[in-house]
Amino acid sequence: MHFFNKTVVLVVIMFACVLGAGKVAFAGIYIQPYLQNPQPDGITILWWTDDSERNCRVQYWRGQFENDAIASNEYIPSMDKWVHESKLTNLSEETQYQYKVVSGKHSSKTYTFNTSKRRDSNFHFAVLGDGRTDNDTVIGRHRKIARMAVSFGDDIIFEAGDMVENGATEHWGRFYRRVITASDTNDPGSDLASKIPYHTIVGNHEIYLDKTGYPGGNLNTAMARYKALVANPKNGSANSNWEERYYAIKYGCATFIVLDNNNDLSTTGYDNHDRLGDNDTPPWSPGNEQYKWMVKQLQDAQKNSVFTFVLFHPSPYSRGVHGDPCDAQRGIEIRVLDPIFRQYGVDAVFTSHDHFVEHCLTGPVGFEKEMNIADANNLNWLVMGNSGHTSRAQSPGWEEWMDILGNDAPPYYTVYFYDWAGDHTLCSFYDVDIIHRGKGFWQATFQVVRSDGKIFDTFSIDRKDPLRKKQSTPPTNEPLSVNPRARIFRKKSTSP
Ligand SMILES: [Fe+2]
Repeated sequence: MHFFNKTVVLVVIMFACVLGAGKVAFAGIYIQPYLQNPQPDGITILWWTDDSERNCRVQYWRGQFENDAIASNEYIPSMDKWVHESKLTNLSEETQYQYKVVSGKHSSKTYTFNTSKRRDSNFHFAVLGDGRTDNDTVIGRHRKIARMAVSFGDDIIFEAGDMVENGATEHWGRFYRRVITASDTNDPGSDLASKIPYHTIVGNHEIYLDKTGYPGGNLNTAMARYKALVANPKNGSANSNWEERYYAIKYGCATFIVLDNNNDLSTTGYDNHDRLGDNDTPPWSPGNEQYKWMVKQLQDAQKNSVFTFVLFHPSPYSRGVHGDPCDAQRGIEIRVLDPIFRQYGVDAVFTSHDHFVEHCLTGPVGFEKEMNIADANNLNWLVMGNSGHTSRAQSPGWEEWMDILGNDAPPYYTVYFYDWAGDHTLCSFYDVDIIHRGKGFWQATFQVVRSDGKIFDTFSIDRKDPLRKKQSTPPTNEPLSVNPRARIFRKKSTSP
């Protein structure tokens, strides 16, 4: 071989080695680290590797001082991967730390996390729903809207179910590696979940194992994967299958109560999923364990939090196909919870399941005369099922199940219904800004942010801190401010 050719070959080999070395550091990390369960003094970090690894740990620091926290190294048969989890404690509240994770010879990039906001601090959160993972186009939209939520400055993000097309390993991989973390080297997602807690809610598609359906609720496969992938707060259920399926998180001055009400028992009259059997999912109706747990959370939240938000997947008030009382996977039975939500002062319920955006209002007898969104006696029901999957229109006959007085005529529960039905290129999320107005008065401002930057259905509610006993007069009722980034795109809300 001529000298020139030898030189070229050598350079090519050296270049290949450099490229290879560059990949070694991340090669064994299947899912990059992501944050769960933020607390004033702690946070939980998980990541996944292809193989068992020694000496798994989180290295975290603030300034020069460096700490190590030991992490688990557990094989998850349903994923055929190894999960590593570390619960960091004794942290300072509302403080940013830098961190990276180490598993044997593998090490992640350096990211940041924040402990949760103090109770008297303003904060910002987002709710997505039905982002899904069906194909590259859906994944692209899901990723884009999640990234957009981060750009609005969210401190914590929730997705109200149907994050995946089904609960197979492939689809969980798509969601975690290509949407909420930058783990897939060929098509990395946003690294948002490595920096912001991203909490999920079980929807029917998480239970749905594959194209063959739901049998058994897939407790050993799809739901075993869900439970291994998340680190939701404990709910104390007597049935270990239901741990992490429903949970509550306190963040700042708010309590978030997450339910799994995808199905109930056939004996209660509230069975809301014809293809799931009894005890394939945690029963949710009055008298059941999840219901009793929920009431305790509602009572505690009413006493101690300024705002109470409830999140679950099926929508009881929806113009869509799943709002139809005859649909096989309907939400209408969940209307039985409306009075108790209002009794305990729930401020908004976020759902998903129908692939659109809808805002409904319920209230005590006669509320329909004013339809006052801001009245604390009324309850705002927000459907956000437009965060990735193709959008849908209202379902024929919706006037029958959406009229308030039961006479197949107006007034309807809906106060806002999106006007981009059928345009699959557009997706959206709910953005919520929590602001202290002073003297114990707080304001929550909600808005739908669309992928093209346009804003819809902006509204605010004002609430008083239950822990502030001293009498005071509320500040002037003008909205204080919303996220400055949101104001850039602000546009007059569109009416239904
Ligand atoms: Fe769904």
